[in-house]
Amino acid sequence: MGHQLIVILDCGGQNAQGQNTKGPNAHVIARQVRNLNVYCEVVPCGTPIEAIAAMRPVGIILTSACATGETGVPAQVYDPQGLEGFLKEACGCVGDWDMGNYVEEEIARIRAQIGDKKVVCGLSGGVDSTVSAVMVHRAVGKQLTCIFVDHGLMRKNEPDEVENVCRGKFDMNFVRVDARDEFLGKLAGVTDPEQKRMIIGETFIRVFERESGKLGKVDFLVQGTIYPDILESGTDGAGKVKSHHNVGGLPDDIGFEGLVEPVRMLFKDEVRRAGLALGIDEELVWRQPFPGPGLGVRILGAITPERADTLREADAIFRQEIIAAGLHREISQYFAILTDVSSTGVRDGSRTWDSAVALRAVKTTDFMTARSVELPYELLGRVARRIVNEVPGVNRVVYDITDKPPGTIEWE
Ligand code: XMP
Repeated sequence: MGHQLIVILDCGGQNAQGQNTKGPNAHVIARQVRNLNVYCEVVPCGTPIEAIAAMRPVGIILTSACATGETGVPAQVYDPQGLEGFLKEACGCVGDWDMGNYVEEEIARIRAQIGDKKVVCGLSGGVDSTVSAVMVHRAVGKQLTCIFVDHGLMRKNEPDEVENVCRGKFDMNFVRVDARDEFLGKLAGVTDPEQKRMIIGETFIRVFERESGKLGKVDFLVQGTIYPDILESGTDGAGKVKSHHNVGGLPDDIGFEGLVEPVRMLFKDEVRRAGLALGIDEELVWRQPFPGPGLGVRILGAITPERADTLREADAIFRQEIIAAGLHREISQYFAILTDVSSTGVRDGSRTWDSAVALRAVKTTDFMTARSVELPYELLGRVARRIVNEVPGVNRVVYDITDKPPGTIEWE
């Protein structure tokens, strides 16, 4: 590795007496260390001292008061004021964590891992899977095939945009599967959110298996797992080797020899920086997170192709206006929801009985808690007017001002 390493020993939220403590978690500390251009990795507190020494760190940070053995490098209990001094003076960190270098190192590692074998990637159109696919493509070119499953619940124009980037810009082997009828058929009449998620998840796996089966023998599967997924899947438990392969996508037991996870050590903003370093368009790199089940968890009640179209149009108007107002980089997630409420309205002098659309915009750092964004009233008014005028079947627009908790970000 061409850069220095700090190990963060994750002792969880407990002190040496086993009492719960409130200090920052390893995730937050890791962000602060990397913000100082120092690479770090979090390891569970029971990790054997020899294993830590073998990682050849230049220093160790402990999260609440756990003991380490002698490693021969400086170790300190986390102290926010003293962090920079500890890294620079005690550990001799020179700030050599650089995204361009990381990307090149990782591409070389992926090339060695895959050799001359075949690899497949389930592309969602999100930044994590796209950056992962582009890195693997840089490493092994046409040995990679990307499979994009259109489940009919993508945002407006999204399938074309994904295809243009992958096939057009990067010249990848790209399979676009039109599975809209299959998904929407299985979802017909289903109103329970958990059942919707289950159907979408299972159908996705089935469609993906069927399509990758057509490629002959494929040895590796690319996953867009990112570092928070790994940290959240648990670093506790003495000496436990983390098992986190399928935290964010396809299960790892669908017949592949191994997984390739190019961004598994990166936080979300680092994935975006890696994307820019790889030449992916800003627009895609800054795409807001989009749930796997797509608009499926934003259509309350039954999902029909017509209702999906209604939501797609309303959502596109909201997104356009947020971007036109230059607010898209400040807001973590913003989207429309098609409620299952109908209400009275009036259009061209006649009574209407149409659907209500809700708008949501939140700011968050970790998606565990979130604040509703105070959007300018003028902007909200413009969006509401456009939606009721331009989207058939909608006659009312409301704005959701609930924080998380007690609300969740999605409505389902
Ligand atoms: P909630 O609604 O739980 O959302 O506050 C937190 C974050 O997770 C996303 N989300 C999902 N992502 N599959 C996903 O891949 C899902 O089923 C799902 N549900 C919520 C949500 O968009 C937000 O970013």
